[in-house]
Amino acid sequence: MNPGIDRLSFYCPAYALDLRRLAEARGVDPDKYLSGLGQETMAVAPPDEDIVTMAASAALPIVEADGADDFDWILVATETGVDQSKAAATFVHGLLELPSTCSALELKQACYSATAALHMACAWVAARPDRAVLIVASDIARYELCNPGEPTQGAGAVAMRITARPRVLEIDPFRGVHADDVFDFWRPNYREEALVDGQYSTRMYLAALTAAWERYGAASGLDWTAFRRQCFHLPFTRMAEKAMLHLQRTARWPSEGFRDRIADGLAYNRHTGNTYAASLYESLTCLLETAAEDLAGARVGLFSYGSGCTAEFFSGVVRPGYREVLRAEAHRRQLADRVALDYRQYEDIVRLPLPKDGGEHVFAQYRTGPFRFAGLSQHKRVYERL
Ligand code: CAA
Repeated sequence: MNPGIDRLSFYCPAYALDLRRLAEARGVDPDKYLSGLGQETMAVAPPDEDIVTMAASAALPIVEADGADDFDWILVATETGVDQSKAAATFVHGLLELPSTCSALELKQACYSATAALHMACAWVAARPDRAVLIVASDIARYELCNPGEPTQGAGAVAMRITARPRVLEIDPFRGVHADDVFDFWRPNYREEALVDGQYSTRMYLAALTAAWERYGAASGLDWTAFRRQCFHLPFTRMAEKAMLHLQRTARWPSEGFRDRIADGLAYNRHTGNTYAASLYESLTCLLETAAEDLAGARVGLFSYGSGCTAEFFSGVVRPGYREVLRAEAHRRQLADRVALDYRQYEDIVRLPLPKDGGEHVFAQYRTGPFRFAGLSQHKRVYERL
C-alpha cells in the first residue's frame, strides 16, 4: 500500500455573495459568471475570520476523531500569509492544542503548496508507518473591486491527515511537473489584493498542464485510460472543462464522456469560489462525497497549478470503505446554512482595513466556526476558541 490521505475535512466561512448580486452591481450579464466562469456564489470571510481560523476549523474534526498524538508535523499551505516570520501553522498548532512534539511549518508556492506538503508528508510517513502528518490548505482569494478576477474570489480550507495506511486515497509514487518563472499572478508584500494577468494566467495553466501530463505519462507508463475521474485546481469551475478540452487537443484525450469525469468534483468550488491552495483538495473532497458511484479502487488524476509557476500532474487510488471516514453531511450543511450577503454588505466587509498601528483592537463578532480572530494587541494577533 502507498501512503496517502487518511481523512479529509473542509471548512468555509459562514457568509456568501450570490454572483447574480455582483453581476447586477457591475452591470454584467449574470450568465458570464454562472456559465462563462461556472461560478454561482463566493464565500466571503468576515473580518474576524482569517486563514488561521479557517485552517483550525477545518482540522478540528480530524483531531477530534483521531486525536493528535501521532502528528509529527502540521504543514499549513497558504498564499494568504498573516505574518512574514511566524508561521500560520504555529497559530493553528496553539488553537488545536497539538503536542509540542509536532513541528509547525508554513509552505508557499501560490496554489501549489499543499501538493508539495502532501508529497513531503507521504515520504515522512513511508519511513515512519506509525506516525501521521496534518496538512491544512487555507486561503482567501481577493482581487481589487471591479477587477475581472473579482467574480472568482472565494475563501476556504481543507485539512488532510496523511498516514502510511490511508483510509481515503493512496497517492501513486509517480508525478509529472512543470516549473517556470512567469508573472501571471502574484501579490507583492505591500498589497492586500493579488495582481493578475488573467488571460495570460489561463494560458500558462493550460501550457503547464500539457507539459506536466506528458512527464507524468513518461514516469508512470499510464495513459488516460487509467483514470476514472479527474480533479483540477479550480480558479473557477469552467477551468476543468477548458483543461479537458486542452488535453484533447494537445495529448489526444478522448472527447467522449469527458464531462462525466469532472462533473462530480465541481459543486463545492462553484459555491465557494477560488480557495487557492485548498482548491484542488476541495474538488477532491467534493468528488468523493457527492459521486453516486462507489469509487473504491478508481484511479483519480489530479492536477495542481500554482501561478508563478509550479504545476504537477499526479494521481491516487481510492481506498475501499472510503465513505465511512468522509464528512459529507457536515460539509453539505455548512454550504447550505451560510448567510446570504447583499452587495452593500459584501463591499462593506472587503473595504474594512486591517489595523496596522500596533495598538489595541477588538473586532466585532460575526458568525464564524469554532475559532475567531478576536483582535490585535501590540502587533500580536489574538485568537479565541468559542
Ligand atoms: N454568457 C455566457 N458566457 C459568457 C458571457 C455571457 N453573457 N459573457 C462572457 N462569457 C464567457 C466568455 O466567452 C468566456 O468563456 P470562454 O473562456 O469559453 O471564451 C468566459 O465567459 C469568461 O469571459 P472573459 O474571458 O471575457 O472574462 P474576463 O476576461 O473578464 O475574465 C478571467 C476571466 C481572466 C478568468 C478573470 O476572471 C481573472 O482574471 N481571474 C483571476 C485569474 C484566474 O483565475 N486565472 C486562472 C488561471 S491561473 C490559476 O489557476 C491560479 C489561480 O488560482 C489564480
